[in-house]
Amino acid sequence: MLNVTPEKLDAAVKRAEEIIKGLTLAEKSGQLSQFGTSIYNDEVHYFEDHYEKGTIGSYLTVGGAEVTNRLQKECKEKFPTHIPILFADDVIHGYKTIFPTPLAQSASWEPEAAKKGAEVAAKEASSAGIRWTFSPMVDIARDPRWGRIVEGYGEDTYLCSKFSEAVVKGYQGEEIGEKDKVLACMKHFIGYGACVGGRDYDAVDMSLNTLYDVYLPPFKAGIDAGAATVMSAFHTFNGVPCTGNKFLLKDLLRGMLKFDGFVISDAGSVWEMKTHGFVENLYDSSKEALKAGLSILMAGDQFNDHIPELIKNGDITEEQIDKALLPVITLKILLGVFEDPFVDPKGEECFFCDEHRAASREMAVKCPVMLENKGSLPLDISKKYALIGPLVDDKENVLGPWALKKEIETTVTIKEGFKNAGINFSYAKGSDFLENNEQDIADAVECAKNCDTVILVLGEKEEMSGEAKSRVHLRIPDAQIELFNKVAEVGKPIILLISAGRPIIVEEFKDRCDSIVYIWQLGTETGNALADLLLGKHDMSGRLTASVPYHEGQLPVYYNKNHTGRPALGKVWYETGYKDMTTDAAYTFGYGLSYTEFEYSDLTLSATEMKKDGSIEVCCKIKNVGKRGGYTVAQLYIRDLVASCVRPIKELKGFEKLYLEAGQERVVKFTLNADDLAFHNQKLERVVEPGKFNLWVAKDSADNTLKAEFSVVE
Ligand code: NOJ
Repeated sequence: MLNVTPEKLDAAVKRAEEIIKGLTLAEKSGQLSQFGTSIYNDEVHYFEDHYEKGTIGSYLTVGGAEVTNRLQKECKEKFPTHIPILFADDVIHGYKTIFPTPLAQSASWEPEAAKKGAEVAAKEASSAGIRWTFSPMVDIARDPRWGRIVEGYGEDTYLCSKFSEAVVKGYQGEEIGEKDKVLACMKHFIGYGACVGGRDYDAVDMSLNTLYDVYLPPFKAGIDAGAATVMSAFHTFNGVPCTGNKFLLKDLLRGMLKFDGFVISDAGSVWEMKTHGFVENLYDSSKEALKAGLSILMAGDQFNDHIPELIKNGDITEEQIDKALLPVITLKILLGVFEDPFVDPKGEECFFCDEHRAASREMAVKCPVMLENKGSLPLDISKKYALIGPLVDDKENVLGPWALKKEIETTVTIKEGFKNAGINFSYAKGSDFLENNEQDIADAVECAKNCDTVILVLGEKEEMSGEAKSRVHLRIPDAQIELFNKVAEVGKPIILLISAGRPIIVEEFKDRCDSIVYIWQLGTETGNALADLLLGKHDMSGRLTASVPYHEGQLPVYYNKNHTGRPALGKVWYETGYKDMTTDAAYTFGYGLSYTEFEYSDLTLSATEMKKDGSIEVCCKIKNVGKRGGYTVAQLYIRDLVASCVRPIKELKGFEKLYLEAGQERVVKFTLNADDLAFHNQKLERVVEPGKFNLWVAKDSADNTLKAEFSVVE
């Protein structure tokens, strides 16, 4: 439900209806059309030729107080309708001040921190005249070959739903129309992350049970939190393009999820219905999209070209167009752009302000995940380090993809962060991302010889993940491996830091490094955050939200796979899996090390029976048994042992990230509701079935130490 009081909503809808009555067909189709610079290869193009006819409703990728004010003024003067423009942009993990990528943010297991990031992004973007962001992306990603895994919150439905809700609230605030806020757009509806082979834009073939139980809940969470808009995806879902898919856009989105905002197509996804082979021409693709429930066409004149004709021919009724238009105009009213379409240019002074940078830095220390540590971390300020790798002195790639309005000179590099923190180090680049040369490697080897410990920062360029960046090799590029090998020959302990937009396979480095940390892409404050974290000023508190495979041939690897009749127990020949490799992940969902150790004990349940509409309390003692304060993420998993549709071997149903001083003990409590155990049965009814369940409170999804059993009864 849109976050606005019924009275305000009612008044806005009535006003919108009046406005719509006064529009010509051309003006109506214009309000449903979005234009942006990017569709003309980044040439600046504002489509002013549309102003006289009023055939433009919103812009994408156009921002900045000066430009948006100018365009609003021109529109106000020239549009026959005087309807203000809505400026939209891909503000994905920050507008100017860049935060860690969404995948990195999810590894914090702190949705509230992501909410704070969304608030900062909303403030900066709205200062630039942007009132609508195409975020959050809540597509579940179980395959790291898919480059867009970086834009979402990982492989788990429950965790992703929590981030979805928090981020929507961060962007939109308590009520639509608040100052410094923007509209959120949940994308991409739906199943985009399940593209065949992890290939971006490829087909999705999925059972409806999987759709309902795995892919839909994060959208539901965002919509329940008030998300005002949704973006339809590029791909075909069970053979039907999402953008022309009445079942998805009407029955599911509006019917089941009770979405009352509006849907925008992804760029080109309307005309691509022709390329898909779903319709013969653009007239028909417009018709199918509108009939399916789409409101705005992103990037182009296709609706302007065809809506008047569609109505004239009786293929679409004017009432259908009015219905598509109503939430668009209503939201413009609620945002307040009719009253004041302009922004105060002074507002842009908040870009990169201390408060925003501090928020980015605070978030960035929460995201890295330590996979291995034999003792080289935290760093010892009395030691000398060799800081080596192409990412060390890099201002751009550590920002990650989708930082469209970045200003790279504002990034604190890793090298700068180390300097600021007073760490004793010498630096060598060692290699480029994809190429190296003998001299750079020789310099790196020399640098390694003159230190106590080597810190190698290797990984992906920013452009190696994101849209259309699917990859077969989930490895550190060969040039950097060669650098690693040459430096390793020096024989010093190695700390390997991996910066990437996806899980990267680290098997070959595991035994040759003292410590391995995924640092992802941490944004503007990368260097400062990383130096603090490596020095142990903060605990290493990130946990994986996407499983790391041993090998690409295992993919997809995710923890919550379904039971099989021949589970991979390594006991008999005829088992599910491969003959030459395990089906397990090298590092599983939920995994990550702290600088301290925790002991989980005394798992108790308030009852071992739960009514079908009841709940139980789950408690467990957690003690910090190490020598320093630190964080652990207590994770509650369940398993439905017998069900009318076979259930996953484990499912996350709760988590709490907690800080404990050395020696401190605390009891964590979870309330598990019967409703949390619901799934969709063979008739696609959402049910809680009586029967036995296992339950774990664990440090990660493979930790079976604390296990209990309970039953659901009628
Ligand atoms: C295509 C992407 O799929 C989508 O996520 C993005 O919001 C639009 N382009 C606009 O840039």
